[in-house]
Amino acid sequence: MFLWGTATASYQIEGAVTEDGRGLSIWDTFSHTPGKVRDGHTGDVACDHYHRHTEDIALMTGLGVNAYRFSIAWPRVLPTGRGPVNRAGLDFYDRLVDTLCEKGIAPVPTLFHWDLPQALEDEGGWLNRDTSRYFAEYASVVAERLADRVRMWITLNEPFVHVAYGYGLGVHAPGRRLMFDALPAAHHQLLGHGLATQALRAAGAEQVLITNNCTPVRPASDSPEDLAAAETYDMLHNRLFNEPVLTGAYPDITAFGVDIPIESGDLETIAQPLDGLGINYYNPTRIGGPGEDGLPFRIEEITGVPLTAFGWPVVPDGLRELLDGLEARYGDALPPVYITENGCSYDGLDDQERIAYLDGHIQAMKQAKADVRGYFVWSLLDNFEWAEGYHQRFGLVHVDFETQERTPKASYHWLRAFLGGQSTDT
Ligand code: FCB
Repeated sequence: MFLWGTATASYQIEGAVTEDGRGLSIWDTFSHTPGKVRDGHTGDVACDHYHRHTEDIALMTGLGVNAYRFSIAWPRVLPTGRGPVNRAGLDFYDRLVDTLCEKGIAPVPTLFHWDLPQALEDEGGWLNRDTSRYFAEYASVVAERLADRVRMWITLNEPFVHVAYGYGLGVHAPGRRLMFDALPAAHHQLLGHGLATQALRAAGAEQVLITNNCTPVRPASDSPEDLAAAETYDMLHNRLFNEPVLTGAYPDITAFGVDIPIESGDLETIAQPLDGLGINYYNPTRIGGPGEDGLPFRIEEITGVPLTAFGWPVVPDGLRELLDGLEARYGDALPPVYITENGCSYDGLDDQERIAYLDGHIQAMKQAKADVRGYFVWSLLDNFEWAEGYHQRFGLVHVDFETQERTPKASYHWLRAFLGGQSTDT
């Protein structure tokens, strides 16, 4: 069955950050630090989904999706990241899963969508190898409770973005500015993915995926400098995260001048057989080189295409290019692909641009050679868009953050009609 769904993430929609024993996450700390998030917005209330999930599931039923990708907040389940389990936190996800199943919507949880328990950050976060092991323990706790109803699991969301923005550039939580010295956090996340995959399977999970953010990289010109820079960027953004998982080896990252702390057996652990690769696609990246301050690449603007309200270029065919590139590079090592996020930020209820964006990307996905088995729109609701706060609206459903009123946009009605005409076999 082809999965047509919507995607969300815990910190971006749940709110209720101090309720029912939830512990602090790095995003609570970061968003409450002045100057980190635009206009000082926080996820304290967000879409109040913690209290309104029944209404939100009704919106999904109305849309006609057969799957829902959401994330589980680690600090709701284990308030300090490890040790005592907070039953009330698990109960929330149990109710959510039950309601989804009753409505015939497959629950697809992601275990880590960036809201690391603050207590683990205090011990080094993903720079500390022990976090990988705690992640697997957390995965077991959740799967023991939910694997009887949840078939498909996603370990990590976009380890590239978490490492680059959170540990390299400091524009996301936990706000570290380590540049390439952030790379050990990539290895520990991937190790955590491998250990969690084993833990999930031991607890009865049928299907396990990882979700990577991928971008087709386009060199700014045919000059040797631009071609080399594009190759380096492709390695950092795409290959560093796909390759160890799919082939059990890292690409040659000597260009970054940092050693990855690999211990014996790590690569085997990371390369657990997977049932699918989750891909989040938003736009291609144009790269020239070298960059400033010794950076081996420079990100250049893509011109001549429409831009979203966030300023992201709209290039639907980039999705086909990306999928064909993965197929060409990994061949038989590429498992079935699920587009676990795709969407755009636009204002207004009559969001014709979003309709054009989704339509274009779905068509591009259908043209790709890879075995694609699912497509999830980011996002069901307007929500807390990380460093941008509530300024970027990615929802099919408009949220009034004063009243929490939900209003389906034109794109919601379009998608509902589109899904009504789709066979779920394709
Ligand atoms: C992705 C994130 C998701 C959302 C979209 C717009 O990188 O996974 O949480 O913020 O971008």
